[in-house]
Amino acid sequence: MNKRGYYGDYGGLFIPEILMSTMEQLITEFHRAKDDPAFWKEYTDLMSTYSCRPTPLTYAENLTRHFKGAKIYIKREDLNHTGAHKANNVMGQGLLVKRMGKTRVIAETGAGQHGVATATMAAKFGFDCTIYMGEVDVHRQRPNVFWMERLGATVVPVTEGTRILKDAINEALRDWVSNMDTTHYVLGTACGPHPFPEMVSYFQSIIGKETRKQMLEREGGLPDRVFACVGGGSNAMGIFSGFFDDPVELVGVEAGGLGLESHRHASRLVSGDASVGIAQGYRTYFLQNPDGQMLETHSVAAGLDYVGVSPILADLKDKGRVRFETATDKEVVEALSMTTRMEGLIPALESAHAFAGAFREAPNMGHDEIIVINQSGRGDKDIFTIADAFGDPAWKSFIKAKAEEYNA
Ligand SMILES: Cc1ncc(COP(=O)(O)O)c(C=O)c1O
Repeated sequence: MNKRGYYGDYGGLFIPEILMSTMEQLITEFHRAKDDPAFWKEYTDLMSTYSCRPTPLTYAENLTRHFKGAKIYIKREDLNHTGAHKANNVMGQGLLVKRMGKTRVIAETGAGQHGVATATMAAKFGFDCTIYMGEVDVHRQRPNVFWMERLGATVVPVTEGTRILKDAINEALRDWVSNMDTTHYVLGTACGPHPFPEMVSYFQSIIGKETRKQMLEREGGLPDRVFACVGGGSNAMGIFSGFFDDPVELVGVEAGGLGLESHRHASRLVSGDASVGIAQGYRTYFLQNPDGQMLETHSVAAGLDYVGVSPILADLKDKGRVRFETATDKEVVEALSMTTRMEGLIPALESAHAFAGAFREAPNMGHDEIIVINQSGRGDKDIFTIADAFGDPAWKSFIKAKAEEYNA
């Protein structure tokens, strides 16, 4: 990265002039914290007492036997407090908010995991909290909205545009401009204006650091391939960064939705539907038309349903350091079903993209080769979508009975 937050051709800091002093304060405070060894210790202590760190690395014995190829390990970010890797980022940013003396946090959320994580952090640190969420996602992820409100956050459904994550980000940026003296914007992924891609990746790097150490302890060597799903790119950056200097193949799996040929997907780095542009404060690949209008995205996983992608990953793609693949909704539901039945693990629909990518390749690898899959979150938040995907009749009658009870 160069000084202005560029990674190759991507990144930067494109914000309204009025936000510049707030960003300068954030950049300075973040770099001061990053250079202070006591800060990382404070962060890891917090994560080991408030979240479940280090998260385990689980050997997937049954999946390994089934595919008859590479040995499969799963990094268990689902075991973090609030059920996803999102906790790593919000707790780190929470510590920075305290250092900056601010009293209010705002955030955007797609799947709701980042919103729940931010509301949790705000409750713990005593900050006021407002969460922006596209109206479509509010409907898809009602249980997470319920929890955010119980945690004391105000959830604002965003009715602009296509009413999903990108619209929630625009609304959060608008709020920030009006309230920057008191408010910090807890961006949830490795996107947005500098220093967010660097800062979010820094907090998520705890995943990669642990995984590398655990692999060496467990196998006496490093994995051959590491798989992570890619929405904005924070869990991928987190686990990949542990292996950037090693001969380890890094594979990011984007949302292939209904298939790339259907143009109903959220693939920014693999499909030909994306191009480089500037939006939401940074330069990267966006799914947009030739006039720069953002396209509608689709994924069964709300957390991958986003038009942009981390500028750091875009650069790593150009450099050939990370390989990108896609998995369709159908493949993802199959991978989730298989993992649940064979290992007793329920990955989030987002994480199941990484599983689908790994399952495609594991059978063609040797018995002496090792795969690590990042299970970025747990799937219980997706119960409505998953039950729909399976057409579960007992679940449907349960919901109908509940609805009748409320109408009574
Ligand atoms: C469980 C889970 N995994 C992955 C993602 C995608 O985000 P990122 O690419 O920043 O890791 C989300 C986003 O909401 C999520 O909830």
